[in-house]
Amino acid sequence: MIEYVDADKAPLKNTGQIKIYSQEDFEGMRKASQMTAECLDALVPLVQPGVTTQEIDDFVFQFGKERGGVPATLNYRGYTKSCCTSINRVICHGIPDPKKKLKEGDIVNIDVTYIVDGWHGDSSRMYPVGKLKPAAKRLIEVTHESLMRALEVAKPGNTTGDIGHAIQEYVESERCSVVRDFCGHGVGKLFHDMPNILHYGQKGAGTKLMPGMIFTIEPMVNLGRPDVKVLKDGWTAETRDKSLSAQFEHSIGITSSGCDIFTTSPAGLFNPLDAQTGAAA
Ligand code: MF3
Ligand code: CO
Ligand code: CO
Repeated sequence: MIEYVDADKAPLKNTGQIKIYSQEDFEGMRKASQMTAECLDALVPLVQPGVTTQEIDDFVFQFGKERGGVPATLNYRGYTKSCCTSINRVICHGIPDPKKKLKEGDIVNIDVTYIVDGWHGDSSRMYPVGKLKPAAKRLIEVTHESLMRALEVAKPGNTTGDIGHAIQEYVESERCSVVRDFCGHGVGKLFHDMPNILHYGQKGAGTKLMPGMIFTIEPMVNLGRPDVKVLKDGWTAETRDKSLSAQFEHSIGITSSGCDIFTTSPAGLFNPLDAQTGAAA
């Protein structure tokens, strides 16, 4: 039986219960999340052929330092970087590396979480490196659209299973696959909390969505099979069949009628392919 607890009265740890947050808490989440979104916007011109993933990490660290945001991944469970940079077949948790240069045609997910006043703003997007092949563009479009469809059903009365179902049904109808090994998560004063948000599932399954819940939705979608291989570094997760993988992530709060998206892009750059069309026009 899933229990819901008032976040103000719950201990600062994962108790297995789902925390219900106040309007004031929502404003704390929005502030942290907007710093993350501004950083992801500011990264757009930096993501070019020849730039290293360490240079991206340095930018994320510095951007936070100048604004009072601490990267949540720094020293998180032994991780030592300020963001994750996941290129092509890397599904998630790619480690920034001074030897890793982006090249024309790559697709890279950059995942940033700043902590501001104790609140965690967690978001990621895809970035095209120069001109993409049609298959890579399509994967990005399908993954972005799967998150948009999930946000439509993230409202009271629905369940976490409705979110997973919306993603899975759409992704598979596009002959892509949903990664099962990683999920969205409760977020707030903790980086990873209950509930788990699976990106696949049955309508009506899982736990009921209630106003005041705060969590991420972060579907990882592969062009090929869903199977994952974690490299010897203990972090980098790749597609087993070496097919391309993409991911988008928002941090959201459930309201009385729908959801509040905390990590919206101030510059309207969340979907990189929209932005590219704009630049070419
Ligand atoms: N930001 C990731 C998420 O969306 C978590 C990264 S943990 C790290 O939940 F240690 F790999 F950085
Ligand atoms: Co997350
Ligand atoms: Co993230």
